Amino acid sequence: MDVVLIGLPGSGKSVVGRRLAHRHGAAFIDLDASIEAAAGRSIEAIFEAEGEAGFRSREAAAVVALGDPDPDPGVRRVIATGGGTILDSRNRWRLFRGRLPVWLDARPEALAQRLRRSRHVRPLIVGREPVSAIRQLGAARQRYYAAAHRVNGLAEPSAVAATIARLVDAGIAGSTRLLDAETRIGRIVVGDGIAADEVVGALGRLGAGRAILVSEPGAWAAVGAPLAEAVRTRGLSVDVVTLPSGEDAKRLAAIEVAASDLARLRVERGEPLVAVGGGALGDAAGFLAAIWMRGVPVVHVPTTLVAQIDSSIGGKTAVDLPEGKNLVGAFHQPESVIVDVRLLETLPERQRRAALGEAVKMAALGDERLFHLLETEGAAIARGDPAAHESGAVAELVERALWAKVEIVLADERERGSDGGRVTLNLGHSAGHAFEALGGFGSLLHGEAVAYGLRVACRVGRTIGLTPPERAARIEDLLTALGLVVGALPFTAAETVQAMATDKKRTAGRLRWVIPTADGVVVRSDVPDEVVVEAIAGLLATPNASPATPVR
Ligand SMILES: NC(=O)c1ccc[n+]([C@@H]2O[C@H](COP(=O)([O-])OP(=O)(O)OC[C@H]3O[C@@H](n4cnc5c(N)ncnc54)[C@H](O)[C@@H]3O)[C@@H](O)[C@H]2O)c1
Repeated sequence: MDVVLIGLPGSGKSVVGRRLAHRHGAAFIDLDASIEAAAGRSIEAIFEAEGEAGFRSREAAAVVALGDPDPDPGVRRVIATGGGTILDSRNRWRLFRGRLPVWLDARPEALAQRLRRSRHVRPLIVGREPVSAIRQLGAARQRYYAAAHRVNGLAEPSAVAATIARLVDAGIAGSTRLLDAETRIGRIVVGDGIAADEVVGALGRLGAGRAILVSEPGAWAAVGAPLAEAVRTRGLSVDVVTLPSGEDAKRLAAIEVAASDLARLRVERGEPLVAVGGGALGDAAGFLAAIWMRGVPVVHVPTTLVAQIDSSIGGKTAVDLPEGKNLVGAFHQPESVIVDVRLLETLPERQRRAALGEAVKMAALGDERLFHLLETEGAAIARGDPAAHESGAVAELVERALWAKVEIVLADERERGSDGGRVTLNLGHSAGHAFEALGGFGSLLHGEAVAYGLRVACRVGRTIGLTPPERAARIEDLLTALGLVVGALPFTAAETVQAMATDKKRTAGRLRWVIPTADGVVVRSDVPDEVVVEAIAGLLATPNASPATPVR
């Protein structure tokens, strides 16, 4: 097997790595040395000549050059990475899958002291006050390091090597953790094949004596039943509460039935519920957890792409009324969100493709890398191409989109910000909600409606001079390439504007438009009605037209 050592600069990856390799008669690979050898110059010189971006692309190439993991159960290779190698999602996917990733953890003060004595120049630290520089690096990377096995990096190198040898004896799991973050809005874990172990771990931390899974028939048949079985084989008893599929779960009557099930199962105050399903199930089960016994913990296991990149993050729970969607609900932050990208393998193509409407929205909020990922690999992800899973493209998409939402929600948990923060997540939703409502919440999937709404926002933005034409074209071309917006909508502009007025009433007469700019968004409440009508009429007439061509 390959052991991969990760950790901050100075955490001892090279020293421990050599010791470990020696102990097992294995090869030692210092990734920084491989990069220097390939470039024919020092890391410092690479940073100077090519900047951090140049270095990172050489680093990614060095990770690829490692090839496949060594399948031998004994240690064959010990790989010491640079401190920032694991920042890149693809590097992590390649380095952690089928290998044993070990985090040499150490306090910044101790690391600063070590670095003062070191003869190596660390480009990201040089010229800065070392303790605070290391602390900052540590905070930014904690969630990636924490996905690996944590070992005290300050112990004697031989003791560290002995601890790692014990991990080696335990073998390599068939699952891969990619991210593990303790946040104010719950612990968030992302990985591949991790669901059962993480559910058991999360319930263990909550002191639960059983797993109470709340699911719906679609998710249950696809992934819930095997997950329940895997949880049972790990020693926990399982009880199941079943809600209806789709939006039917989000009805007060369905919640009442499920609450009676909880009563029959004698679910007590403090006993966590585990929501296994897509966004509709998560909204309903989250609401159930918020009100059962005045609130019990909830663990989300999102099983659709919409749920993984969007609805499971942020603590919004809701059910619908005949008068409108999501009218009754509560904020109820989960204890944990367990995002297992392997659960997406059974997802129907239409669900996958529609969810990319939300992903394009997250990219348009200002994530250039996500934009590029969608432009280059989005179509394969939409098709459910197994290569898109294998290459780590799906995992990167999920991680980037999800984390972008985490950051926005952390900055504005209760949507109090009026012109920034959480409200920016409504990009594409002003007209999108109206199309969804007009279609009767069934004919158009949410992400499809958002894709239409994004086009309207781009066209509105172009007309009022906020969205540069090339940015609008880039967003709309991407939506087209992803197969989003293919048919004309059977509504009129007047109907759409009327449906939007319902949203407007909810926000005291001012509909806040989130409008794309050259590299992000602005929020405006002063968009003239005639501009909106014109943009919607244009979209209804020519849904797929690139804005580079006249839309009128
Ligand atoms: N709370 C929030 O912040 C938030 C954000 C966005 C959307 N939402 C809500 O999310 C809902 C839409 O979510 P959704 O698109 O996930 O819908 P969904 O939960 O209805 O799931 C879509 C379909 O996929 C099936 N399914 C689920 N997991 C599967 C799997 N792994 N394999 C195969 N099939 C599977 C389901 O049975 C269902 O038929 C809406 O109700 C929307 O309001 C909430």
